[in-house]
Amino acid sequence: MQVPQPRGPLTEELFSAFRLGSDDFYPVLAVAPTAAGEDAALALWTLHQLHYTGFDGVADELEWDPQLIRVRGLLERDLEARLRRRVDVPPGRSFTEDFFDWLDEQDGPSLARFVHRDATVEQVHDLLRVRSVYHLKEADPTAWVVPRVGTAAKAALMELQYDEYGDGDPNRLHHHLWARGITACGIEPSVDAHIDLAPLEILEQNNALSMFGLQRRLRGAAIGHLAAFEATSSLPSRRMAQGLERLEMPQELVDYYAEHVEADAVHEQLAVRTIAAALLAEDPALEGDLWFGAAACLELENRTALAMFERWDVTSGSGVPDSLAAPAVELAPEHKDVA
Ligand SMILES: [Fe+2]
Ligand SMILES: [Fe+2]
Repeated sequence: MQVPQPRGPLTEELFSAFRLGSDDFYPVLAVAPTAAGEDAALALWTLHQLHYTGFDGVADELEWDPQLIRVRGLLERDLEARLRRRVDVPPGRSFTEDFFDWLDEQDGPSLARFVHRDATVEQVHDLLRVRSVYHLKEADPTAWVVPRVGTAAKAALMELQYDEYGDGDPNRLHHHLWARGITACGIEPSVDAHIDLAPLEILEQNNALSMFGLQRRLRGAAIGHLAAFEATSSLPSRRMAQGLERLEMPQELVDYYAEHVEADAVHEQLAVRTIAAALLAEDPALEGDLWFGAAACLELENRTALAMFERWDVTSGSGVPDSLAAPAVELAPEHKDVA
């Protein structure tokens, strides 16, 4: 993977140190406290990426460089503080009993609804490129959580992850299904081909996921995020699949979403009723962070949807396309829930 293009003073310092092979990151540390916006988000994304694939020409040892870990810590503290300010954690509600009711009360702008009925092929391609930042490592950030939870939560989390990783079949691995789907659309299946196009909101979504996974104290938020992510996937995946069929896009991509209609209807139950319940049984103090992670997941997705609508210039005064202000279009009968 190639190092991305810098987006401000912090990423300029960081990437030029990478390029020069320097192991003195004090200039980076000096700039980090004042970094903001896309510059800070891209720096954090890059520092997280050292824990996944790393970058071509960047020493693997830098993953645990103490100065870079300090920079990562500063950027993560800032991201966490902003997320905690931005989201409302419902007071006094039980995560395992009230989660689905709470979810029904949420009403964010939906990219899947837009793709279902209105998006053009070009807009869908743009969406696929920026979504690739996550989907090409789908489920990887959650894998960090596995050793950080107790026996019952771990067994259930592994059941879900095993599915995400293809049930032992590399061809069924979800990020492989994604790669196959976008390749069929003529889109390169590599993150470095698209990271420079990713808006702040996409970077923050990915950064929050990696931060929740990499920080043991945030394991409650990681599982709350997982619950909300899975529980907002099955129905939107149906809409995506139908939207792609409307646009006559490749079957391989439709298959990726079709897989998630079925899988995530199971995963949402597993995440809330088994994994979150087991985590709470081992540590009831994590209830607040379960809600925090779930609310952050929805808030970050809402921001991404609004950013993409603005980028495509399809917004009306309310910030969403007019068509989304109307009631949702009925799903085609063959795709309706029978349960
Ligand atoms: Fe998946
Ligand atoms: Fe899933």
